[in-house]
Amino acid sequence: MPGSSPIQAVQPDPKPNNRRRRLLFFLAPPLLAVAVALLLGASTNPLPRHFLRRILGSKPSVLRPEAPRPVNGTSRDAGRPPCVLWMAPFASGGGYCSEAWSYVAALDAHAAAGAGNNFTLSIAHHGDLESPEFWIGLPEPSKDLAYRLAAARCELSRAVVICHSEPGAWYPPMYEALPCPPTGYRDPAFVIGRTMFETDHVSPEHVRRCNQMDAVWVPTDFHVSTFVKSGVDRAKVVKVVQAVDVEFFDPAKHVALPLPIGVPVMVPEGSTLEHGDSKGRNFVFLSVFKWEQRKGWDVLLRAFLQEFSGADDVVLYLLISAYHSDTNFIGQIHRFVKETGIKEPVDGWAEIRVINEHVPQSALPSLYKAADAFVLPTRGEGWGRPVVEAMAMALPVIVTNWSGPTEYLTEENGYPLDMDRLTDVTDGPFKGHLCAEPSADHLRALMRHVVVDREEARSKGKKAREDMMERFSPEIVARIVADKIQQALVNTGLTED
Ligand SMILES: *[C@@H]1O[C@H](CO)[C@@H](O)[C@H](O)[C@H]1NC(C)=O
Ligand SMILES: *[C@@H]1O[C@H](CO)[C@@H](O)[C@H](O)[C@H]1NC(C)=O
Ligand SMILES: *[C@@H]1O[C@H](CO)[C@@H](O)[C@H](O)[C@H]1NC(C)=O
Repeated sequence: MPGSSPIQAVQPDPKPNNRRRRLLFFLAPPLLAVAVALLLGASTNPLPRHFLRRILGSKPSVLRPEAPRPVNGTSRDAGRPPCVLWMAPFASGGGYCSEAWSYVAALDAHAAAGAGNNFTLSIAHHGDLESPEFWIGLPEPSKDLAYRLAAARCELSRAVVICHSEPGAWYPPMYEALPCPPTGYRDPAFVIGRTMFETDHVSPEHVRRCNQMDAVWVPTDFHVSTFVKSGVDRAKVVKVVQAVDVEFFDPAKHVALPLPIGVPVMVPEGSTLEHGDSKGRNFVFLSVFKWEQRKGWDVLLRAFLQEFSGADDVVLYLLISAYHSDTNFIGQIHRFVKETGIKEPVDGWAEIRVINEHVPQSALPSLYKAADAFVLPTRGEGWGRPVVEAMAMALPVIVTNWSGPTEYLTEENGYPLDMDRLTDVTDGPFKGHLCAEPSADHLRALMRHVVVDREEARSKGKKAREDMMERFSPEIVARIVADKIQQALVNTGLTED
């Protein structure tokens, strides 16, 4: 029921107070979660992640194999099915985290549906730091699944280990992280690295780390090509696409979130209500991204503010999460508009609103449902999870036609956005790599186009959902992953062909 969503619970407040909203969000989860939060807060240990590590932690039996490597047939485990130890940042809430969840949940359901996996599935936390907020917000069935899979026994010598993270976290880790594989590359039967990058190549250290693996799984043909071109052994690179939860992100199952929500940043002329402009706009654009240059928010703001004005019945919603940076998005947007000298149209600014609170996963579909189009002029994506979620929700998407999205975005199911050129990444760990510079002019044209030709936009959205169900549903992806694991088991002799 939409009325029970935590976002709505805070909506009636006409003069939003951020601190109070956040507090309400925090109180919304069930009691157990609050108890966990209190426990974390009261802990004298400055690192709450130790608590989460105990929940999802490295298995002692895995970290310290009691027996020497078993010789054929002499192990206590002989005769048991081999196991798959999936190591990923399951409690971090980041991109690898949600991707890993989608795989293990799909594999678990696949096995339960009697598709008969020939292996036991087990998980451990690895890579990025745990986020208590994310763990608390997880639905109970996911927590139960985590406890069950974390408790599953898995002997390294009979394991296919999947290291699902940024290669810097792989054994030996380049920073403080639980390594994967836990004891190096000799103990497991087979080791797979799952990773991806958003630029045109892979750095030499990452190439070296990839080549230590028995196989490297990447999500798209774009990555197969960039990894191989950069020096990763061609024979090791395997495309394994990402799943999107088409059951959860199903427009038929959700009611649109009543708008407006969030805080207006650019207010149309004549709007007297500072925070509560309640005029429902006729066409709603939605963008979802982490606050970093790579996401092309500058191109989006420029295109939107230049193409539309207060006379257009449109609004752009930005659902932004912080990325190692200060979270005063609204101030930064104002500064950007001022510094770039975008001229205010005669009819005033077109409306932009920032959704400045944490939107729980459970409320995301109703947010997508409230939009008419999704837009992301990104400079590079590994996969583009919000894009496929929007597509599963049957939204027409306008997304840069480069990197990850080329795997699924076509002119039939969306609006591929042209890039002007490839350009240097100017800072961060990928400095010197190339990424796309999306075309602001083409973006303006496409945004105008979907507002004008809504019929076409809707039919592309419909096709988008069909494509997502056909190619990336959890069942289909589980079958792909189970097949690849089966191949690995056969290669190592853990299963007969
Ligand atoms: C273990 O298996 C390999 C091949 O599968 C075989 O060559 C070897 O003799 C076996 N060792 C023992 C101790 O059975
Ligand atoms: C999108 O990019 C792919 C891969 O580079 C290319 O084959 C395709 O033609 C592009 N689509 C459009 C509409 O430009
Ligand atoms: C399990 O292994 C058997 C042979 O060892 C094979 O025929 C079967 O296809 C495998 N099942 C799956 C789901 O891969």
